[in-house]
Amino acid sequence: MKRLIPCLEQDNVDIELILLIKTILTACKEISFRVGQGALSNVLGSTLDENIQGETQKKLDIISNQLLKDMLLESGKVRTIASEEEDYVVAATEGAPYIVAFDPLDGSSNIDINGQIGTIFTIYRAKDDVSAESELQFSQKGTEQVCAGYVLYGPSTLLAMTTGGPSRLYTLDKTQGCYLLTTEQMDIPTETQEFAVNMSNYHQWSAGFTHYINDLLLGNEGTRAKKYNMRWNGAMVGDVHRVLSRGGIFCYPNNTKSPQQPAKLRLLYEANPLAMLVENANGKASTEQERILAIEPSHIHQRVAVIMGSTSEVDECLEYLNVK
Ligand code: AHG
Ligand code: MN
Ligand code: MN
Ligand code: MN
Repeated sequence: MKRLIPCLEQDNVDIELILLIKTILTACKEISFRVGQGALSNVLGSTLDENIQGETQKKLDIISNQLLKDMLLESGKVRTIASEEEDYVVAATEGAPYIVAFDPLDGSSNIDINGQIGTIFTIYRAKDDVSAESELQFSQKGTEQVCAGYVLYGPSTLLAMTTGGPSRLYTLDKTQGCYLLTTEQMDIPTETQEFAVNMSNYHQWSAGFTHYINDLLLGNEGTRAKKYNMRWNGAMVGDVHRVLSRGGIFCYPNNTKSPQQPAKLRLLYEANPLAMLVENANGKASTEQERILAIEPSHIHQRVAVIMGSTSEVDECLEYLNVK
């Protein structure tokens, strides 16, 4: 089986970027080990702290954030870092070529139940006309990402990653400590009979989105040609991994009862990297209005509605939302 570095070389990824990716993946290997040890490595449970998102931080949120941050600061390849668990950007190495953003631990509510969790990361080129301390380093559209990926800590530890070419899947060989290529090109089927949405938010959705889900629930007893199945993981990384593996639609729509904070998922370190992986696996990724990767970001912790997965199902959903 092919190892990661030769795959990146084959995709003509430059050496500086390869070294940076290697740093991120080494940190993820360490997170994977600690996740695997569970209660034995004292990583379960909560802290008393809150992040800027207003969420209580789990021990593993903090540990994963610290591991990634420390290794990136040492690497010399990163100018600026942004994380779900950091209030502000962190200035790293002046003059370094890249900036990195990550969700160190996605699916925090699954930590203590031994459910799926993961790390999501994205890399952009640093801007020379902006200081390393400025969050304006990250005011770049998702189309500017030079690498996007996640490491999923499930029964196996998997890496899904794209550097602009195909979205590839690697499996961490824990006996040798290396990531081996196990799917050359992920390819999301255009059609699907599976949807992922948190149904407990049903009464908070827009009329258009509620109508869409009502029709999925009716399936072939209503207007749709088939019967639909539903899955919800509680970790976007796990839900989108299923969509990348066998198709489906993943939705986290706006909450119309919360005008101040209508969306839940974060553009920079959740929506954009997963949208790039989905698009490079022949899927589609949108908000309730526009292509996710085309959004001009307003700030690092910005949130957006997310609808992504099988192309014709995403298009169908957008029609209910009157997006042409
Ligand atoms: P995080 O654990 O990084 O804060 O992200 C959780 C996100 C995402 O992974 C998931 O899809 C969603 O929140 C789950 O939301 P619900 O609690 O509404 O199911
Ligand atoms: Mn969180
Ligand atoms: Mn997350
Ligand atoms: Mn998180």
